[in-house]
Amino acid sequence: MPHDIVFTDQAKELQAIAREIADKYVRPVAAKYDKAQEYNREAAQAVAEAGLFKTFIPKEYGGHGAGILALCLVTEELAKADSGFGVAFAVNALGTTPILVGGTEEQKQKWLPQIARGEKFVAFCLSEKGAGSDAGGLSVTAEKDGDDYVIRGEKKWTTNGGIADIYSVFCVTDPTSKSRRISALVVEKGTPGFSVGKVEDKMGIRCVPVVETHFDNVRVPKENLIGQREGMGFKHAMMTLDRARPAVAAQAVGAAQGALDLALVYANRRKQFGKPISSFQMVQKMLADATMKTDAARWLVYAAASATDQGFKTSNKLAAESKCYATDVAMEVATDAVQIFGGYGFMEDYPIAKFFRDAKILQIYEGTNQVQRMVIARNLIKEAEGLAHLEDYIPTEEQKSYCSESVEA
Ligand code: CAA
Repeated sequence: MPHDIVFTDQAKELQAIAREIADKYVRPVAAKYDKAQEYNREAAQAVAEAGLFKTFIPKEYGGHGAGILALCLVTEELAKADSGFGVAFAVNALGTTPILVGGTEEQKQKWLPQIARGEKFVAFCLSEKGAGSDAGGLSVTAEKDGDDYVIRGEKKWTTNGGIADIYSVFCVTDPTSKSRRISALVVEKGTPGFSVGKVEDKMGIRCVPVVETHFDNVRVPKENLIGQREGMGFKHAMMTLDRARPAVAAQAVGAAQGALDLALVYANRRKQFGKPISSFQMVQKMLADATMKTDAARWLVYAAASATDQGFKTSNKLAAESKCYATDVAMEVATDAVQIFGGYGFMEDYPIAKFFRDAKILQIYEGTNQVQRMVIARNLIKEAEGLAHLEDYIPTEEQKSYCSESVEA
């Protein structure tokens, strides 16, 4: 059932602020931070001062309470300037959401206001060497010891690792349980035994660190167990991803638009055979397809984000659809944008190559697009139960055997 997509004045205001910050602090230095593989602290500071980290946090915890649609609008603007910075911003929401969806009142009061003010950055530690798409197959353990939990093991692909102060860490608390094996705990930077291991040397999004995180007998008080009830971790992880995936899709829309804008300016200026290449139909096809798909992705993102904000049952499927579609579009648009730039597009001297490198990870992280398609298909198959009225229009078993008999005769 379609629902309304409402852009509040506040959401539009936050979007405009994000665009200003992107123009001033992100785009002009994107290549520099990409080459150096360094975090853009100046832009993060500007984001904090402008109150953009408050976007998705409820008002009662010091946020704007503007919801996921506003988070997507802000993320899109930042990612349009630099996809790497887009994820550096949005991953704070990913890491915070387990506390939002599962945390106790005390936990929310303790951590959310600091995150909203941009004083503390957050990371999400779910994936491991042996547990990627199979998020339930974790091996990091948290063992109860008196009033504490002791965490042991290693996490992989921790985005914002090292920069972040607060880590939502998914651990096995009951290895014997099938459905209640996992719990999430908050680990704060500086806790003895917690360290950042390998810092990955990545193809794209190089300005945001992605690291291994090591937990060597990390002792945290039982108060850090998200929700104070063991066994809720997998559910909280899934609920988090449902809320975070539209923001990945928004990164993708930003990236696609950023690449398309550059390709368009170049196609108008670049002359071959005495004419701008934008006058050639084959280039026009690439530009037209790119804008059509980017617009379609954008509206799907807005639909998914508002379905989540409004608590619609369809939000799990829409979140997966938006993540999958928008990130495939970003890859396609970035590929064609490089094509339009020709040889110049292949050179690291110009930002278009970075859009191409940055786009690939969007199809992989926060659930591969294969996982998204699986989630979509599972939902779709369930929805088929509501289509019983169409049974009369499909062949019955009797009709099928009649057909095969008549063919044999
Ligand atoms: N909301 C709430 N509960 C959910 C849910 C959802 N969306 N999806 C599943 N569940 C519940 C089920 O109801 C079920 O509960 P019960 O045991 O009580 O019945 C339980 O969770 C298990 O569900 P499934 O049987 O569907 O689980 P599964 O093992 O088949 O896995 C999956 C499903 C969709 C493949 C899931 O594992 C998944 O999303 N995998 C991808 C993980 C992922 O996205 N990882 C990326 C991490 S973040 C990152 O990339 C790094 C970064 O920092 C950016």
